[in-house]
Amino acid sequence: MPVNSDISKLKIPTHLAVIMDGNGRWAEQSGLARTKGHVAGIDALRRLVECSLKYAIKYLTIFSFSSENWTRPKDEVNFIMRLMHHYVTSDLDKLIQNNVKINVIGEREGIDNSILDLIKKAEQSTKENTGLRLIIAFNYGARKEIVNACKKIAKQVLGGKISIDEINEKIFANSLYLPEIPDPDLILRTSGEYRLSNFLNWQAAYSELIFIDEYWPDFNEKIFIRALQEYSKRNRRFGGL
Ligand code: IPE
Ligand code: IPE
Ligand code: MG
Repeated sequence: MPVNSDISKLKIPTHLAVIMDGNGRWAEQSGLARTKGHVAGIDALRRLVECSLKYAIKYLTIFSFSSENWTRPKDEVNFIMRLMHHYVTSDLDKLIQNNVKINVIGEREGIDNSILDLIKKAEQSTKENTGLRLIIAFNYGARKEIVNACKKIAKQVLGGKISIDEINEKIFANSLYLPEIPDPDLILRTSGEYRLSNFLNWQAAYSELIFIDEYWPDFNEKIFIRALQEYSKRNRRFGGL
């Protein structure tokens, strides 16, 4: 662990997005059921939220369930659904106390009512909070988000609100799930996989990408700091010099 003076030199990303990957392999390597990995992943998520509060991250987006994760065995999908429900139910009070504002992005179609109600409750009860913005990507797929944006814009064109020539990147970005959130500065993925897996493809155009070998359940403050140290060394040019 670096000494405090090193920590004070860290560049803190305004928006950190995390692909929390490797729960299943973490469990399998110890001969455990994959579900045990998802349970341990919730503790890692708690550590991530604590780190984000401690290091004053403004926006934290977490990939909790992708639109493609439905293709997994039904038992595992049901387990993950119940676990997400459990996480939000058990941690909501603490998140409220910590001034965290929650938003959930992704498709709502096909989601159980009990989860939809909980999403509503989490968003409603934290909407006045001004601290960390916790954006939960749940049943989320970037391509779907982009297609939805196209549909919204097409409707505006058909309704005569804008012309085709007026469509630009700003209008497009404003048609995505949460237009007011700045693009992620850093996308961190655990478990040694080097891909985005349909996560924030539009928003990731100039994000720094950091891939680490540890499985998600092993995530801790030390790994968080290591990622920020790597991020601090990056020279972001956005196409300039
Ligand atoms: C990430 O861990 C959690 C979800 C996708 C819900 P995985 O379940 O993908 O774990 P691995 O990648 O199979 O090890
Ligand atoms: C991405 O991980 C989705 C989440 C972390 C929720 P996956 O495990 O689903 O991604 P692939 O299948 O390895 O690309
Ligand atoms: Mg995975």
